[in-house]
Amino acid sequence: MSLSIKQLHPLFAAEVSGIKLSPSLSDAQAAELHDAINQYAILIFHDQHFDDDELLDTGKRFGSIAPPRNHRSGDRLKHAVLADISNLDQNGELRKRDDTRRLDGLANQLWHSDASFRPISGELSMLYAHVVPPEGGDTQFADLRAAYDALDDDLRTIIADHWAEHSILHSRGLLGYSDYNEAERSLVPEVRHPVVRTHPGSKRQSLYLGSHASHIIDLPIPDGRLLLRELMEHATQQQFVHTHSWRKGDLVIWDNRCTLHRGKRYDDIKYKRDLRRVTTQDLTTVDHNPELVPAS
Ligand code: OGA
Ligand code: MN
Repeated sequence: MSLSIKQLHPLFAAEVSGIKLSPSLSDAQAAELHDAINQYAILIFHDQHFDDDELLDTGKRFGSIAPPRNHRSGDRLKHAVLADISNLDQNGELRKRDDTRRLDGLANQLWHSDASFRPISGELSMLYAHVVPPEGGDTQFADLRAAYDALDDDLRTIIADHWAEHSILHSRGLLGYSDYNEAERSLVPEVRHPVVRTHPGSKRQSLYLGSHASHIIDLPIPDGRLLLRELMEHATQQQFVHTHSWRKGDLVIWDNRCTLHRGKRYDDIKYKRDLRRVTTQDLTTVDHNPELVPAS
C-alpha cells in the first residue's frame, strides 16, 4: 500500500496514512518517509501499535539511538534508551505534585529541541501515545526553517556566525528547579551548537535554539539572552506553530534539527498520560564539542 500524505499546516506538518509503521518497514518505505520528514519536518500517524521493543526497533530504522537522561526514572519501560514521557511511577500510578521526576519533566512544557543539551544532539524523535488524558496535553511544534526565512536581513546578519551554549540545567532553572546533585550535574556538561544551521535533508537554513540554550558564546550573557529571547519570540509566533491533539495510538515523528516543540498543560495530578519516545542522534553535530565526544 502506498503512502498518502496530507499537509496540515501551510508551512509544515503532515498526516501520513496507508502505512503501518514497524521495524520491518521496507527500505523503499523508509526512504519515502525520510523524504517526507525532510519536507514536512513533522509527520503524524494514527492508529499505530507499538510495544516497547517495536518502538525501539522502529526508531533504529531511522538512525542510532540517543540515550535519554532518565532522571531518577526507575524502570517502568522495558528499555533504558526509551524516554518515559509520562506522569506515572514504576507502578503505573500518578506521580505526586512534589515528585522530583515530575518537577524535572515540567520543563517539557517550554519550547525546546530534544537533546540540544547533548554534544551529539537529537535528530528525529518518535513519540507514541499509549494513554492520553481526556483534556489538555496537546503538543505544539514550531517551524524553525520558516522562522529563519522570515527574519529580517539585519537580524540574519547579526546571528550568522553565533554559537549558543545549551544546558539542561538552564531550562530546568527557568522554572526554578535546580535539585540536582554534583554527580547528576557532571553528566550534563554545557555544550555548544551554532544558532543557524543548514538542514542536511533539505539544504534549507534553520534556526537552532530552544529553552536549553542559555546564552551566546562571545557575547556578554545579557546580550546573548536578549538575542535568544527575541529569536524564540519570533519563531514561536502563531503562523509558525502547529498543534497536535493526541489520540491513543498516534505516533508523531519530528525533526529536532529544524523544529521546536513543547507539551501543553493538562491536569497531571488527576489524569494519566503515557507517551514513550525514541530519539535518533544527529551525527552531524559530533564536531561541535569534540572534547565531549569520545572518538569511536
Ligand atoms: C518529548 C516532549 C512534550 C509532550 O517527548 O520530547 O517534549 O507533549 N514531549 O509530552
Ligand atoms: Mn521534548
